[in-house]
Amino acid sequence: MNDLDYMKLALALAERGRGWTSPNPMVGAVIVKEGRVIGRGWHHRCGQAHAEREALAGCTESPAGATLYVTLEPCCHQGRQPPCTRAILEAGIARVVVGSGDPNPLVAGKGIAQLRENGVEVTEHVLEEECRRLNFIFFHYIPKKRPYVALKYAMTLDGKIAACTGVSRWITGEAARAHVHQLRHQYRGILAGVGTVLADDPQLTCRLPEGRSPVRVVCDTRLRTPVTAQVVRTAGEVPTLLATCCGEEERWVPYQAAGCEILRLPEREGHVDLGALLDELGRREVDGLLIEGGGALAWSALEQGLVQRVYAYVAPMLLGGAGAKTPVEGKGFPAPAQAVRLGAWEVTRLGGDLLLESEVVPGVYGNH
Ligand SMILES: NC(=O)c1ccc[n+]([C@@H]2O[C@H](COP(=O)([O-])OP(=O)(O)OC[C@H]3O[C@@H](n4cnc5c(N)ncnc54)[C@H](OP(=O)(O)O)[C@@H]3O)[C@@H](O)[C@H]2O)c1
Repeated sequence: MNDLDYMKLALALAERGRGWTSPNPMVGAVIVKEGRVIGRGWHHRCGQAHAEREALAGCTESPAGATLYVTLEPCCHQGRQPPCTRAILEAGIARVVVGSGDPNPLVAGKGIAQLRENGVEVTEHVLEEECRRLNFIFFHYIPKKRPYVALKYAMTLDGKIAACTGVSRWITGEAARAHVHQLRHQYRGILAGVGTVLADDPQLTCRLPEGRSPVRVVCDTRLRTPVTAQVVRTAGEVPTLLATCCGEEERWVPYQAAGCEILRLPEREGHVDLGALLDELGRREVDGLLIEGGGALAWSALEQGLVQRVYAYVAPMLLGGAGAKTPVEGKGFPAPAQAVRLGAWEVTRLGGDLLLESEVVPGVYGNH
């Protein structure tokens, strides 16, 4: 086993925290002494021990003189947890191998510098790309203070997200729909337009037995969401925000009584200002946001350069219909040269369907 193998092990451990660590990153750590793995740890949940401390606490023999492999630079500040660098130095670790640096300005190189100043040998950038990719949400959220936004939709091969009648259930099969629940577990927030609530009455919850439902947000400029909608009726169980420009407080009452929170936001071009919404969600530590339709909302988010990733589930089905809904509606860009550009596809087969996943290329048409 070499540095790369141990870092792969640390990455696999980090993965176990997926969906639970937000707004913290997923982190894994392995402690190795004379070729023996003597400690393993990962960050389980926000507020709980960091991976390094967990690995040190579980060591089967003294970690003095050992090598610590960690997917993210150890922290050196007092946050929800005490600094990991202190624990590493106290344990007498001789060498630390780091995957990616920590973008948090409170750490950002200072953790590594502190270890070196205290005589610890540090090797950086081991499987750095994999370690960064693991935490793509964290790497966006920390500097921008706004959620990483992903657009998700299920469409037919002729690009329809619903039939001409508005019926959209079901376009994709069970495997693809189960995958959506993994995404809902992974993203801290989920966003739908009131059009989708009116058409489909979705729950927008994560139905994995071990999963966590995201905070639900409905963009509803004039409070048209029916009080009988599933998102309202279940607001006592799953945090639910109605993002609205409606200032008539008496109209808020039935939603609030059902457990919804009203988020009064400014208007932009006749609708809820999505930038203001992202700022507010960022303040609430919603680090990742999954947009689940429909086309009107998707267009607004894309036009304003707010989207970082697309998950397109494609079903082998043709629906037709000039009026049938498509994933992105609105005005549209005037020519391909102005289109939002996506990077290389990652393609996954899910039963009979495909998942096409791609990151938006930053810096092209309005993307920040
Ligand atoms: N297959 C799929 O993956 C999938 C997923 C979701 C939905 N769908 C389908 O999509 C259809 C609904 O799509 P839709 O386009 O009518 O609805 P939508 O995008 O869910 O909602 C649009 C509504 O959201 C409100 N809104 C608030 N703030 C907005 C903003 N900043 N930008 C844009 N809209 C904003 C607007 O009404 P106000 O301004 O009045 O509030 C607007 O009419 C349904 O047929 C549904 O079945 C399919």
